[in-house]
Order: sequence, then structure tokens, then C-alpha cells
Amino acid sequence: GLPRYVKIVEVGPRDGLQNEKGIVPTAVKIELIRKLASSGLPVVEATSFVSPKWVPQVMSDFILVGEIIIHHDLADAKDVMHVVQSMQGVRFPVLTPNLKGLEAAVAAGAKEVAVFAAASESFSRSNINCSIEESLARYHDVILAAKKLMIPVRGYVSCVVGCPVEGPVSPSKVAYVAKELHDMGCYEISLGDTIGVGTPGTVVPMLEAVMSVVPVEKLAVHFHDTYGQSLPNILVSLQMGISTVDSSVAGLGGCPYAKGATGNVATEDVVYMLHGLGIKTSVDLGKLMAAGEFICKHLGRQSGSKTAIALSRI
Ligand code: HMG
Ligand code: MG
Repeated sequence: GLPRYVKIVEVGPRDGLQNEKGIVPTAVKIELIRKLASSGLPVVEATSFVSPKWVPQVMSDFILVGEIIIHHDLADAKDVMHVVQSMQGVRFPVLTPNLKGLEAAVAAGAKEVAVFAAASESFSRSNINCSIEESLARYHDVILAAKKLMIPVRGYVSCVVGCPVEGPVSPSKVAYVAKELHDMGCYEISLGDTIGVGTPGTVVPMLEAVMSVVPVEKLAVHFHDTYGQSLPNILVSLQMGISTVDSSVAGLGGCPYAKGATGNVATEDVVYMLHGLGIKTSVDLGKLMAAGEFICKHLGRQSGSKTAIALSRI
């Protein structure tokens, strides 16, 4: 059956804003996070402590660009963290690709971090400049250091269905990386369809493979809506027992260079579907929509959430 409660991990301020072409003022990011937190979201991924020098190799001028180029716009990670860490009742994990990132995150007050591996060699190389094995060794050190500081670590696996360079990714490869991260001590593994190519037809076998090696209650799903498949993919994931879903307010994260490449599934749409299924989320949809309106107004763009557009007409 379906879960009674779904934990939503809001990734808009990080996964969404990392793809913005223009610089979003720090104060706007902080206000967005404040609004998201006050909507009842239990977890808001706030920012990332990555190399400001890192301009990833662009392997495809279509889809990959939107996901991985960092517009040096997360350079204010420290300032964002200093303010949001004091907000009560919400967890604010941040991405840390290495020990240097962990140290900076902890110094800025982060109480939770996330590491991000890939199920595809090409994507690993392009996103974090190392092989999958090298990344796992690096994350082993990050997790060990975090453990000593009592900092919980979330683990991401990206390209769980497809890679922009290698094409289809085998479920066994995803299961391998997910199990490694789990065995190292990640408290949760988020499975990312980074380029949004999955359908229930490919997501179900991928989840079956992962669930055979990682307990389902440790898994989260992270869909990008490039082909409009996120909601059906989330629904089948719920039916398989997953109860943690990543999403981005207003579907933030559209690629500024590539028409058609879109962001994460919109949080408003996820909440609308979950509440329609009678599943609790702790999120107030009205307040969440206000957060979406706030950031869309700032970006000068229409919301990527169908729910937000529909309800704002009423
Ligand atoms: P590298 O160039 O191999 O790293 O990059 P390096 O160790 O050789 O360092 C190069 C320079 O960067 C050095 O500076 C370091 O100090 C500095 P220099 O000595 O030349 O002056 N540096 C740092 N600075 C600040 N913070 C740090 C840091 N690390 C090194 N943490 C590295 C390797 C992993 C650092 C780089 O590739 C990187 O930062 N990658 C991150 C890319 C990224 O943020 N991608 C997007 C997130 S992943 C994602 O979106 C997928 C997800 O949403 C799930 C899904 O959708 O599937 C999570
Ligand atoms: Mg993502």
C-alpha cells in the first residue's frame, strides 16, 4: 500500500538556483528558504560547498548543461548558512563533494551534509572530476570525518536511469553505488534521475535492483521533469514503499541554455498529488505557493508548477 506520510526534501534553493544564469542576491535566497521552512517542509537543502573554480566539462550542449554548470552562484553558501542555521524545526543539509567542502560547511554551521556520486562514469568525471571508485573512496573519508562530528550524511546517486553521454544506465550499477553509500553510513540514499529520462517502465526495475540491497526506508527518489514523467515515477515509487521524495518549489532548475530541459519536479505538484491520495506531508500548500510566487517574481518567470498556475487563477 501507499505510505501514510511522505517526507518531502525541498531542493529548490540548491538544485534549482545552482542552474540560474543570473546571480540571485543572498537576501533573496535567504528569504526563499525562510518561506519554504515556514510552509512546513521538514528538510530544505540550502546550498552547496563546491569548488567555485569548477566549470564542468560540457559534454552535450543540450541536457547536461542545465544540471551541472555552477554559475559561481553558490559562492555565498557560507552567508546563506550563517542565517538559516538558526531557523528552528527544519533541517538544512548542504552538498559537500569532498573534505574541504565538509570543513567549510561545518564552519558555516551546517548540521547535516550530502555527498553525491553517480551511476555513470562519464557523469562522475564531468560533475566531480573523478571516477566512481575514486568518488566512493573520497566519500568514505567525508563520511568518517562527519561521523566524528555527529553530522548525518545523505548520499545521492545521479544518472540512475540514464546518462546524457552513456545513454541507459543498468540497474545493477545503480544498486552497487547505492549499497556502497549505504554501507559507508549514509542515513538516506537519494536516487536521482538527473536528466529526467525515466518512465515507470525504467524506474521500477531500477528500484527493484536497489531495494534488493538497500532497505526501502533508507531510499528517496529525486526526479527531474524533463519529459513530464516525474509524477508517475513518484507514484510507482510510493507504491513500491518509498516515502521520501525530493522536489523543487516552482519546479526551479530549468536550464537557461536548453529549451525543454526542465528542473526538478515541482514541490507544489507533489504536495497536490500526495494530499489527493490522502497522504500527509506537513506542508501547507498555500504557504508553499507563496514561496514559489516569491522566487518566480524575483526571477521574472512563470512557475514551473501546474498546480501553482491552476490555483493562482482561482
Ligand atoms: P577538482 O578540480 O578535481 O578539485 O574538482 P581539486 O581538489 O583539484 O581543487 C581544485 C580547486 O578547487 C582548488 O583550488 C581547491 O581548493 C578548490 P586552488 O588550490 O586551485 O586554489 N576546491 C574547493 N573550493 C571550495 N569548496 C570545495 C572545494 N573543493 C576544491 N568543496 C570538485 C573536484 C569535486 C571539487 C569539483 O568537481 C566540484 O566542486 N564539483 C561539484 C559540481 C556540482 O556542484 N554539481 C552539481 C551538484 S550534483 C547534482 O546536481 C545532482 C543531484 O541534484 C542529483 C541528481 O539530480 O541526480 C544531487
Ligand atoms: Mg538534481
